[in-house]
Amino acid sequence: MSVIERLSTGVRRLDEMLSGGIPKGFFVAIAGEPGTGKTVLGLHFSWQGVKEGDRVIYVTTEESRESVIKQASQFGMDFESAVSEGKAIVIDALMGSDRWTLTSLDPEQLVQKVIEAKKILGYGRARLVVDSMSAFWLDRPAMARKYSYYMKKVLYKWDFTVLATTQYAITTASAFGFGLEHIADGIIRFRRAVRNGVLKRYLLIEKMRQTPHDLRMYEIKIVDGKGLVILRPTSERVEDIALPRSVTRRIIKAKKRAEEEIPDGG
Ligand SMILES: Nc1ncnc2c1ncn2[C@@H]1O[C@H](COP(=O)(O)OP(=O)(O)OP(=O)(O)O)[C@@H](O)[C@H]1O
Ligand SMILES: [Mg+2]
Repeated sequence: MSVIERLSTGVRRLDEMLSGGIPKGFFVAIAGEPGTGKTVLGLHFSWQGVKEGDRVIYVTTEESRESVIKQASQFGMDFESAVSEGKAIVIDALMGSDRWTLTSLDPEQLVQKVIEAKKILGYGRARLVVDSMSAFWLDRPAMARKYSYYMKKVLYKWDFTVLATTQYAITTASAFGFGLEHIADGIIRFRRAVRNGVLKRYLLIEKMRQTPHDLRMYEIKIVDGKGLVILRPTSERVEDIALPRSVTRRIIKAKKRAEEEIPDGG
């Protein structure tokens, strides 16, 4: 049996849940509602790469480069130094104005930029975080599967292990992530719920190919100065956390109706 090389996620407890980490070369989807911890996990994964001497590329579409770097610094990760020392490149997909900016949310341009960045960072094992991937097909959800397949295929050749965040609508149904989940080698799913008036967050490894992974849902915490902390397996059922079915059904119906009312190309 061949031994699988695994990359640490930067969160020790999560590595244990993954039998050591994410298999090298994998394309993993990080899914979940807003504010659940997707970006924080992406930062841990990137920072771990910096620490291990990997080439690190972080693509941000939701927040500016400055915002991401500031957020990371609150968890003790100094991306400013990493970038100036040539260990990492942060591509600002929307708000930047330098070389590491995209002019449109086009998957092909993204791949080109990432490869350009990899050439600058140099030969060797690399990590890529795309936060978020949904941004690249918001206006053409039907293309999600094709785009993710294309990205996975090209980036694999460049020695990348990829984490791509994907946003979930409150219906938790297919929404924006559709397509990515099947192409992805792994899915790490974040959730949230309000319990007794307090926001709780959870993490579940929904899929990780070639890995005997933990199947339990864990309560997690985001801690100042530290980042993502895995607490304990929870006995909450997914049904307790998701919206009631009748509500979900009504939201989906309303969405469909709204879509039908938008004329083509609108
Ligand atoms: N310094 C900090 N200390 C404690 N908690 C923090 C700190 N910084 C951020 N957080 C928590 O992390 C949350 C943001 O998490 P994160 O950015 O990973 O969410 P996300 O899943 O990426 O959401 P989105 O889909 O909106 O991008 C904040 O809403 C806050 O609750
Ligand atoms: Mg985010």
